[in-house]
Amino acid sequence: MNIIEIINKKKDKLELSREELEYAFMGYLNDEIESYQMSSLLMAIVLNGMTDEETINLTDIFINSGDTLDLSNIEGIKVDKHSTGGIGDKTTLIVAPIVASLGVKICKMSGRGLGYTGGTIDKLESIPGFNVSLTEEEMINQVNRIGIAITGQTKNLAPLDKKIYALRDVTGTVESIPLIASSIMSKKIASGADKIIIDIKVGNGALIKNIEDAHHLSYLMQIIGNRYGREVRTLTTNMNTPLGKAVGNSLEVVEAISILRGKGKNSYLYKVCLELAANMVSMAKGISIEESKLLVENSIDTGLAYSKFLEFVSAQGGNLLDTKVSSNVLAIKSTKKGTIKSINALKVGMLSQSLGAGKEKMDDQIDYGVGVVLNKQEGDEVWVGDTLCTLYIGDKKDYLDPYECFEIE
Ligand code: URA
Repeated sequence: MNIIEIINKKKDKLELSREELEYAFMGYLNDEIESYQMSSLLMAIVLNGMTDEETINLTDIFINSGDTLDLSNIEGIKVDKHSTGGIGDKTTLIVAPIVASLGVKICKMSGRGLGYTGGTIDKLESIPGFNVSLTEEEMINQVNRIGIAITGQTKNLAPLDKKIYALRDVTGTVESIPLIASSIMSKKIASGADKIIIDIKVGNGALIKNIEDAHHLSYLMQIIGNRYGREVRTLTTNMNTPLGKAVGNSLEVVEAISILRGKGKNSYLYKVCLELAANMVSMAKGISIEESKLLVENSIDTGLAYSKFLEFVSAQGGNLLDTKVSSNVLAIKSTKKGTIKSINALKVGMLSQSLGAGKEKMDDQIDYGVGVVLNKQEGDEVWVGDTLCTLYIGDKKDYLDPYECFEIE
């Protein structure tokens, strides 16, 4: 087999066989194919797409490149959740304890932030003492004991995806629906859950910019899941505006707690969490979404979900009382009267990153206490002098202009 022929075949819009995909991709993992050749093949895939069979084969090659997690020592149905990433997305912190409080097992590996999107592991790490590096045994024991564990990636899961993702990130080849489907699903299948819900974020602050792409991604994720006997459901949610009010690690933990304590029930954040949690409960218990929603609401109203959150944080060594947000706060006041037409998710994410909540370079340190809290929502009327948002500022003083986030008419 020859890598140049394989690249040319994809350039000519022809389907690659499993053997050809394996030759190119495993060859890259084993340093037998050069990164410029893999970049060229990836770009041909971005431009010409992949058939369903190619996408399924590539996912399988990613899965087989590393270990898979065996969750058979945990009794009952294990449910996982994944978000394609967005600004202010703290849904895992809310949904996982709700679902666990209803007896559904959550054994979850989460990721760190990428660019301006925050990662669940960074948010959990903002709680002093919280251990995000459980061993496989610790994780399984904890789930058997309290029904929930969330940790960073322990095993060598889908190492080929990791190497390919790093290359895609620097070669303009991230935005391909089949590549995104293979990348995410390989990690979800390798982490062992029986049922998976995927929150596909759509909008300017998300990887997926339009609804057609979201539908295609949803279709691919479901056919991949079915191949491995996993039930996959997807939700498509809005990421044109940040999810919730807080963007920044500790600030998001604080907001997650307030939702778990029954506040903000009219918010879009609550609505998304309710849908996600209800779908997870419905898949695990084999009951309708309506019945599941009642259980979820009851768990919040009775304080069960919040108690499960406290139990989970304490089991992993976290001390919520020591969680800090910056005391250097600055209210950003409106200089205009009018209506808020939009709050741009991408710009709020970049503002929060520029304050130090996310990394700009690999070796940057995250400042857990900084970020942005939105005081207004889209559609709100504002007067001159009203607070649009509050900045929680750390050492970084060269942050982006917060006014850029708001469109007021
Ligand atoms: N997240 C992933 O893990 N992979 C992608 O390709 C995109 C988002």
